[in-house]
Amino acid sequence: MSDPYSQALSLNDFQTLARRHLPSPLYTYVSGTCEDGLTHEANRAALRRVCLVPRILRDTTSRTAETSLLGCAWSAPIGIAPMGLSALMAYRGDIVLARAALAERIPMVISATALTRLEDVARIAPGSWFQAYLPADRAWIDGVVDRAADAGIGTLVLTADLPAAGNREYLARGRFSTPLKPSLRLALDGLTHPRWLFGTFVRTLMNQGMPHFENSMPGRGAPIIARNVEREFGARDGFSWKDVAHIRSRWKGHLVIKGVLHPEDARLAADAGADAVIVSCHGSRQLDGTIASLDALPGVVSAAGPLPVMIDSGFRRGSDVLKAIALGARMVFIGRPFLYAAAVGGEAGVRHAVTLLKAELDRNMAMLGIRTPASLGRDQIHIAGDDR
Ligand SMILES: Cc1cc2nc3c(=O)[nH]c(=O)nc-3n(C[C@H](O)[C@H](O)[C@H](O)COP(=O)(O)O)c2cc1C
Repeated sequence: MSDPYSQALSLNDFQTLARRHLPSPLYTYVSGTCEDGLTHEANRAALRRVCLVPRILRDTTSRTAETSLLGCAWSAPIGIAPMGLSALMAYRGDIVLARAALAERIPMVISATALTRLEDVARIAPGSWFQAYLPADRAWIDGVVDRAADAGIGTLVLTADLPAAGNREYLARGRFSTPLKPSLRLALDGLTHPRWLFGTFVRTLMNQGMPHFENSMPGRGAPIIARNVEREFGARDGFSWKDVAHIRSRWKGHLVIKGVLHPEDARLAADAGADAVIVSCHGSRQLDGTIASLDALPGVVSAAGPLPVMIDSGFRRGSDVLKAIALGARMVFIGRPFLYAAAVGGEAGVRHAVTLLKAELDRNMAMLGIRTPASLGRDQIHIAGDDR
């Protein structure tokens, strides 16, 4: 019998497979969007508004999606976004994602709220990026930054759109919480999903013990069932550009600011010495009712000047990726579908997802008459409503 993941024909198909595979609180944690899902809808609507205009009868036989960014040659302008708790969805989920990314030559970002030590991921998949959530506490900041440097991390991503946790009502409705509260309901959910229960959860407990938050602090964080777990992430609402400047003076590698939506913030990131920014609305998990990432992109790109701009939130297709590239993005990060793929198919599942996306990119480049993603010009984009 073939693995379930091989049935997936597109990134969206992994969601259907993961919904069956994961206990419902875990599926809810990954799939959810905050409050009323307005930002989620805005992202979809923005992708629908931006239309591609193909050029015909051009020789594209030598086309390639290869992309250079931050000193590396990547096989395509796509990457795996940082996602916390991945090792609860897939056995050794962070390592699965990082190894698949390494094999596929795309960037992968280790999360601050991962349950796997960043040192372990960096050792197994050198070249992985690391994302930090930081409070305005210099000892804490220095400890995390130095730890990433000691682990050989070359690119540090500071996620800046989480000064407070988003209003994730869906977590309460879906009975998911951190700390994870053991309950009869949770046990029943586990028993009705035996592949996940034994293949991920029991296997993790037996081989790694109770998962801890490993990367949010200079030292090891609390176990996921600890009462004090929320407090351990520190208050992030005081973290500011002053702290970014301090990090810049300490961190020798590439520095990336994630969560930019306002053009002025791209300028401030450049002033603070960042090497790149990621336009992001955090996969619609933070402030609801924000501008769509794709709508924010052109303004950020023009304000950023020579600073490379990347993007995430809601991108699922090769055509979605190319729309962002045409509007100035250099790399498009994707979150949930890769985690669903890791849950249902492990490393092979994630590689299958990346392969599907690369095939879409390749096919679309031919149909658009372009040899490289970067050669897709603004003239090949029509924004519906612009001509009214
Ligand atoms: C389950 C999950 C966990 C996430 N955890 C983090 C995190 O720890 N740090 C972070 O910067 N972003 C986190 N994000 C946001 C992603 O990095 C990314 O911005 C978003 O998922 C992209 O949208 P997409 O899932 O629609 O592709 C998380 C997203 C999901 C779905």
